[in-house]
Amino acid sequence: MTNDKSIQLFEQAQKVIPGGVNSPVRAFKGVGGSPLFMNAAKGAYLFDEDGNKYIDYINSWGPMICGHSYEPVTEALRDQVTKALSFGAPTVLETEMATLINKMVPGIDMVRMVNSGTEACMSALRLARAVTGRNKLIKFEGCYHGHADSFLVSAGSGLATFNIQSVPGVTSAVAQDTLACPYNDIDAVRQLVEQHPDQVAAIIIEPVAGNMGCVPPAPGFLEALREICNVNGILLIFDEVMTGFRLAPGGAQEVYNINADILTFGKIIGGGLPVGAYAARAEIMQQVAPSGKVYQAGTLSGNPLAMRAGFALLSALDQDPGIYERINERTRYLHDGLATVFSGKGIPVAINRVGSMISVHFTDKPVVDFNSSAAADSKMFSQYFHHNLAMGVYLPPSAFETWFISDALTQDDLDSTLEAAQSFSPTK
Ligand SMILES: Cc1ncc(COP(=O)(O)O)c(C=O)c1O
Repeated sequence: MTNDKSIQLFEQAQKVIPGGVNSPVRAFKGVGGSPLFMNAAKGAYLFDEDGNKYIDYINSWGPMICGHSYEPVTEALRDQVTKALSFGAPTVLETEMATLINKMVPGIDMVRMVNSGTEACMSALRLARAVTGRNKLIKFEGCYHGHADSFLVSAGSGLATFNIQSVPGVTSAVAQDTLACPYNDIDAVRQLVEQHPDQVAAIIIEPVAGNMGCVPPAPGFLEALREICNVNGILLIFDEVMTGFRLAPGGAQEVYNINADILTFGKIIGGGLPVGAYAARAEIMQQVAPSGKVYQAGTLSGNPLAMRAGFALLSALDQDPGIYERINERTRYLHDGLATVFSGKGIPVAINRVGSMISVHFTDKPVVDFNSSAAADSKMFSQYFHHNLAMGVYLPPSAFETWFISDALTQDDLDSTLEAAQSFSPTK
């Protein structure tokens, strides 16, 4: 397998794009080496510019839950391209999309479409501040909620991959309003709330964290957060940018049977196009402009192509619950297989999995928060990553990222991935 063309393309890209990429983790800095430049993708496979084929475990960081070039999505896009690309005026597509999201997701009445997960979280925070009349935000170390200033404190995978502790350009005034504590540590949350009485507008959380590897909530943790929010007049924001429509049609809310006050979405709801959304009960969402005063807007928000792609994918997920059974079963198979292979080799490993999200951490301790994730052997992960790449298996290029399993993966693909683990021998 040669990567000559990718290497050459990366050199060219670095001259005109910072670091040669449009989103940092793509640069392979977390695992070393030169990133692969992709050319095409179909089903479970990626094809790079050198003509190499890879089994894909990133799936565009989640959206390709049914595999690449999923026919219902590409067909909807083909049809829409012939009609119009963008109007800057309302369309029925947006109402249909909001209606479908409301139907699938528990506890919400209204949805506002935006263009990315970052925008969704940023807007959700503004809304929470407006509704409560408070400024402070509690977030969890290792959770990522996009790159808006307020969230760039202890912010998970991207920053952790690059060992960025504080971000130049984020003013101390903004950073002071963001309070961070360890994931799964309910006493730390209680303490922060007590230390800042009547000041906390929102607690934002990835209900299953996906930006420090995959870290599930400890039993009772989400329930306790809900209770703290109820008692203290704080709004609970579930960032379901990764978990939404992936863990279940109703996302983590459905799986854990807990409703947040505001939800944020991204990734899957665009079917591969750039989309995000935030949603809540009517009395909260009615405060958003133009029905309320919380201003938030977007020239391309609700873009017809994005709505058609997202609607096609969400409809498939809504109509065929078998998709979830299949991807969860494949992920379980992979989990069991990898656990057997690594234990046979005497390599200590913690494998975390929720539904079709999974991560492999080279450590002999459980991974329950950012510190335990960061304590794993990242050098061994880099070796494992490159070994897989050479075997035609494309894993996320950072130990802090979750793998996303798609419905397009075959039994052979899974077995090839287990064979790659079997032939892995780390060097010290
Ligand atoms: C949980 C979570 N929230 C928000 C975001 C930001 O989304 P986007 O990259 O679309 O801005 C991400 C991106 O990975 C994410 O994983």
